[in-house]
Amino acid sequence: MSQFWKPGTERPQGRVVDDEEGGVLFLSGSHHSSSSSRYGYASIDKQRQRLPVFKYRTAILYLVETRATTIIVGETGSGKTTQIPQYLKEAGWAAGGRLIACTQPRRLAVQAVASRVAEEMGVKLGEEVGYTIRFEDVTKPDVTVLKFLTDGVLLREMMDDPLLTKYSVIMLDEAHERSISTDILLGLLKKIQRRRPELRLIISSATIEAKSMSDFFRMRKKRREPENEEHGLQVEPVILSVEGRGFNVQINYSEEPVQDYVQAAVSTVLLIHEREPAGDVLVFLTGQDDIDASVQLLNDEVQTTGKHSSGLIVLPLYSGLSRAEQELVFSQAPRGKRKVIISTNIAETSLTLEGIVYVVDSGFSKQRFYNPISDIENLVVAPISRASARQRAGRAGRVRPGKCYRLYTEEYFLNHMSNEGIPEIQRSSMVSCVIQVLDDDAKLTSPTGFQVAEIPLDPMVSKMIIASSQLGCSEEIITIAAVLSVQSIWISGRGIQKESDEAKLRFAAAEGDHVTFLNVYKGFHQSGKSSQWCHKNYVNYHAMRKVLEVREQLKRIAKRIGLVLKSCESDMQVVRKAVTAGFFANACHLEEYSHNGMYKTLRGSQEVYIHPSSVLFRVNPKWVIYNSLVSTDRQYMRNVITIDPSCLLEAAPHFYQLQQSNHLLR
Ligand code: CDP
Ligand code: MG
Repeated sequence: MSQFWKPGTERPQGRVVDDEEGGVLFLSGSHHSSSSSRYGYASIDKQRQRLPVFKYRTAILYLVETRATTIIVGETGSGKTTQIPQYLKEAGWAAGGRLIACTQPRRLAVQAVASRVAEEMGVKLGEEVGYTIRFEDVTKPDVTVLKFLTDGVLLREMMDDPLLTKYSVIMLDEAHERSISTDILLGLLKKIQRRRPELRLIISSATIEAKSMSDFFRMRKKRREPENEEHGLQVEPVILSVEGRGFNVQINYSEEPVQDYVQAAVSTVLLIHEREPAGDVLVFLTGQDDIDASVQLLNDEVQTTGKHSSGLIVLPLYSGLSRAEQELVFSQAPRGKRKVIISTNIAETSLTLEGIVYVVDSGFSKQRFYNPISDIENLVVAPISRASARQRAGRAGRVRPGKCYRLYTEEYFLNHMSNEGIPEIQRSSMVSCVIQVLDDDAKLTSPTGFQVAEIPLDPMVSKMIIASSQLGCSEEIITIAAVLSVQSIWISGRGIQKESDEAKLRFAAAEGDHVTFLNVYKGFHQSGKSSQWCHKNYVNYHAMRKVLEVREQLKRIAKRIGLVLKSCESDMQVVRKAVTAGFFANACHLEEYSHNGMYKTLRGSQEVYIHPSSVLFRVNPKWVIYNSLVSTDRQYMRNVITIDPSCLLEAAPHFYQLQQSNHLLR
């Protein structure tokens, strides 16, 4: 490895704690967490007591008792998420029918953490310990006392119960991720506390970068909050820092810039497997596409060469995995086998994986960016920050000294990476959040606005569903919305591309992907929802089960807000109209003289192309609307449908103004 890898010069993983701030209480203590649930025979209680946060149990409970807000900073794996809610319950915060909430920015983390806590408490998931994510509520009224949920779901609960009265303590976890919902929640929860002084807030974070968070609260402190002081409560927040780092991690950099990080990650895993002693590998890539590709490449390697790679168990980790797939990721590899987990940045801080000794860091993650000029929000593969790179490396030092392989040069790390990431709130479109918040400052004026806010979906999807009720095709559109909510209903991968493309052709509709989805759904339904049918047609069975589930939930919501459920049978014209009503802002037209399938968005004239996964790829109809954009070498439109330009004017006269209408009718 020496010719390819160069050890870093920076001292790895030094822990810096800033304790000179006024108003910051710094409790120190050293603790090496060498404990591991799945490597010893310790009882659950013993395992829990070995976690770094356990030493701070009393301090945490004291602070929560006496302060409105407590900020807790602790290294990933120190026990913040799984332990603190349990401490609160043990101390009586769930008495009298009240609930303890713990939010996570990611759905997969919510599920994983809730099942871990249920296991530790020896209860069935969905009883005392439950969780709620969009489209899935695994809680029981009057029984559940610890509830894990995404911050987006908590934000929505505020619409029914603006003061969140059923909760006694709300823990906003992973606050360093600064998701939009977390940022908005922070602001709103401070307001709620003024009305409900008994509500306690815990903000927890994996990095000391929480300094900006404490600045936010210090700013609040200056504006006195007399109501709270009457209750003898201290309003100044405290930062409690839990020490508990594992072991040193040796950093290796690539000597040369890497051209193809998927390929480089795969070669690095094989090198580690060949030359390094036992220990699992965690690879950070960006999303389902590159993760599936590298899993496939590694599995091919295991099957063909055998010799170097036998003993590898390769597992993907991204949201949308089935429960069984998730369990594999968390379970211990059989003796003599090495687990390789290829993950999005969900494994950076949200999930703790035991047994990782080697980390391979591509240096990239998928980030949500909003382009205010084109008014397009998309997920873009972008370089991570130095803070993220350090977090990723730290994952290798949980059980013993580890190694991290960075697929970029040290020069790049030192001189070109930004120091900290940009909070999502600065990169994203606020439409969806603003519609949900319904605050004084953000009133929704039209009745459609209110209906849109009732649906736990992107506003464009919501608008499409409402339009479908008026057009008499809500059954079809709800199916389409459900399909759009899953990553992909197709099985894809290297080696089966041809077969899956052929299978897709059996369902392909001239109108485009949305109508194709309807054909697949119909076939699936007629087969009696059979998994064999899915297998035969290269359709992802788990995705289809999810579609069924989401569809049921959307139907319930639609009924509740008074929409008419009706099928248009075979009239696809109205389906296209409904899609146009929702997604009019994503209309594009073919540049006739480009000869390479280039489209321009009507808004902003951005260059875009039809994604190869679309049934309209190479068909290139003149007018299309897309559901989302993916940026790789180009901007690709995913899930595309042909439209009639006159529908655009009908759907959004305010949007496509006169000058454009000339263009539209040309
Ligand atoms: O939230 P934080 O990163 O501080 O830690 P945590 O998620 O509460 O995890 C604490 C410990 O619980 C980890 O070190 C693991 O030993 C264990 N754990 C696990 O074994 N399986 C899980 N799904 C989650 C946690
Ligand atoms: Mg955590």
